[in-house]
Amino acid sequence: GWKMENISDEEIKVIRDTVGDEEHVICALSGGVDSTVAATLVHKAIGDRLHCVFVDNGLLRYKERERVMETFERDLHLPVTCIDASEQFLSKLKGVVDPEIKRKIIGKEFIGIFDAFAHDLEQKLGKKPLYLVQGTLYPDVIESCPPPGSGRNHSHTIKSHHNVGGLPKDMKLKLIEPLKLLFKDEVRHLGRILNVPEAFLKRHPFPGPGLAVRVLGDITEGNALDVLREVDEIFIQAIKDDGLYDSIWQAFAVFLPVKSVGVQGDQRTHSHVVALRAVTSQDGMTADWYYFESKFLCDVSRKICNNVRGVNRVVMDITSKPPSTIEWE
Ligand code: XMP
Repeated sequence: GWKMENISDEEIKVIRDTVGDEEHVICALSGGVDSTVAATLVHKAIGDRLHCVFVDNGLLRYKERERVMETFERDLHLPVTCIDASEQFLSKLKGVVDPEIKRKIIGKEFIGIFDAFAHDLEQKLGKKPLYLVQGTLYPDVIESCPPPGSGRNHSHTIKSHHNVGGLPKDMKLKLIEPLKLLFKDEVRHLGRILNVPEAFLKRHPFPGPGLAVRVLGDITEGNALDVLREVDEIFIQAIKDDGLYDSIWQAFAVFLPVKSVGVQGDQRTHSHVVALRAVTSQDGMTADWYYFESKFLCDVSRKICNNVRGVNRVVMDITSKPPSTIEWE
């Protein structure tokens, strides 16, 4: 039968048979549910012949690197190399304002770092890693070609694919995609069986280019990224404190390249405006803006202005998708 315990055991067996007793496997962890669950399965199958890398691109949220590394190491015992490449990414993004160019630069830097990681590993092991783990899900594959006889029905909305196409072409790694017949809710279920912490399984989706698409315009100007991290953390924490996190598809703050006049104490200020966005959605293709009670908004807005230097105004995004997108860039 279609039981997740069986799926987990079967997948582990398939991975073991595929990789054999000698070969090594690499995996890029994003901090998201899919790559984490995929890596955890492979780790169960082949142990420390799995080599994961987590790249801090300087575009992560408040304490995110520490938080996800703690889950990888303490909760999942995954062998992960953490590479701090913030300086490298940020210097390449200096002066860049076009969102698609930001994405291209980030993708390219990532490939360079991943390549170097694979190369170092080859030196260390004295042999090439042969396989690459990817957290590809069923909705990612049905668009082009549904696996024959998979028994999946096709009405599921097709999602534009942000995560593929970004890997080195000349690396000649064979893919291991243990989640490619599963939907998101099934991946969460599998994660639960593999002891991935519940809070981790329920994290909101976060785009690969990270905060680079949430600071509008040049992300290196002033301390926009740090300001955004603080604002975002206050907003998310308030959402969690009120028990709203699981009812929301995504919630985040956006840093606007706009200053407005304010008054704090008896001082006139000229500081930044931040926007808050929260949406409900099934799959990210369409979305509705989430309705907060006014007391919640009032408290969050006050907390942000009182605690984050350089921000004197908070606005709320009340647009659905379409006509807007979820992200602002
Ligand atoms: P939009 O803004 O297009 O977003 O309505 C739909 C979903 O996709 C996420 N998103 C991305 N994810 N790389 C990603 O990995 C990207 O470049 C990217 N752009 C948007 C967004 O957070 C939402 O969940």
